[in-house]
Amino acid sequence: MPDSAAADHRALTEAELRAAIEAIPRVPLAQLPTPLEELPRLRAALARETPGGRAPRIFVKRDDQTGLALGGNKTRMFEFVIASALEQGADVVVGGAAVNSNYARQLAAACAKVGLECHLILRRVRGERDREIQGALLLDLIVGAKVQLIEDDRAAQTAALNALAGRLERNGRRVFRALLASEESKWLQSLAYVDAVLELAAQAREAGITIDRIYAATLEATHAGIRLGLTALGSPVRFLAVSPNEASIWPGRTVAEETARAANEVAEWIGIPTRLDPADVELTMDYVGEAYGAVTPGGQEAIRLFGATEALLLDPVYTAKAAAALIDHVRRGLIGPDETVVFWHTGGLPAIFAYAAELGFPPPPNSTPVTP
Ligand SMILES: Cc1ncc(COP(=O)(O)O)c(C=O)c1O
Repeated sequence: MPDSAAADHRALTEAELRAAIEAIPRVPLAQLPTPLEELPRLRAALARETPGGRAPRIFVKRDDQTGLALGGNKTRMFEFVIASALEQGADVVVGGAAVNSNYARQLAAACAKVGLECHLILRRVRGERDREIQGALLLDLIVGAKVQLIEDDRAAQTAALNALAGRLERNGRRVFRALLASEESKWLQSLAYVDAVLELAAQAREAGITIDRIYAATLEATHAGIRLGLTALGSPVRFLAVSPNEASIWPGRTVAEETARAANEVAEWIGIPTRLDPADVELTMDYVGEAYGAVTPGGQEAIRLFGATEALLLDPVYTAKAAAALIDHVRRGLIGPDETVVFWHTGGLPAIFAYAAELGFPPPPNSTPVTP
């Protein structure tokens, strides 16, 4: 005692949950609240394709608009992570991810905003294409990060990050180790999405809507945070995490197990009684395609449909796959026409440019010269 099943499952009030989060240090970096917007033209387009001619109301939660170097979900997280770095007296941050990582981009931007030096060691996951100064990598450089590239080997990357951090420390620097150099601040990332659930709850109330479902592209922190936030409030909203990865990235643990573990770690840190069980987690890996990062036909279609109906931009690695799941579920009647769905946009937009050649848009034809 207490094990997770026996824990107190009494729902918290929003005020109680907010008070628990407010006890954690935070630096303002994101434009919050991000807008909650309805997508009527997308709804109409999908309604035309369903047998009954009706489709659910669809809203988008614009976390692509968090505002830091083209935005995204990580900016919310760095409000807590960077506060922790500053509290520890750090003067330099070391972190790693893939070359086109939105995590690395927003980390570099957050560091620039608060005056911390940022060193990134980034994995080339797309071969030579990842040497191109494009997408997130371009933005990392613009915001002043010191970037090194490494082959696609996580263990080698972690070793290189730790060696770099060690060198900096020997030179008298106070280093904050971000992912993949340390997992220590991971719970702060999930915490940001517990907070985001409170933000969404307030917006839904203000808009006079009852949300039935949430769809988001997530495997880790966002997933655990949204799930914990909803459960803590006793919310009946169904949340489907649409995985960008084809498998769990935790050796020996399923995504559901890791999500529950991560959520419970947050709950412990902020002192709330809520505990999650792996059975509470709802996720799909059906929209990943061949592998993480692969452009899929469903994703390409989602990019076109959201773009042409709502001028809403999606990235091919994350948000297009969540949108493909949403579209497919509406078409198959898995989401009823009387329901209200929130598509939680997690950002990732700089990747559009790095992946331009793979998105399937043929070059427009030349205009035929008109002879007067
Ligand atoms: C655009 C975008 N969406 C979703 C995710 C998934 O977030 P999480 O790692 O919290 O699951 C990421 C992570 O890098 C991302 O960049």
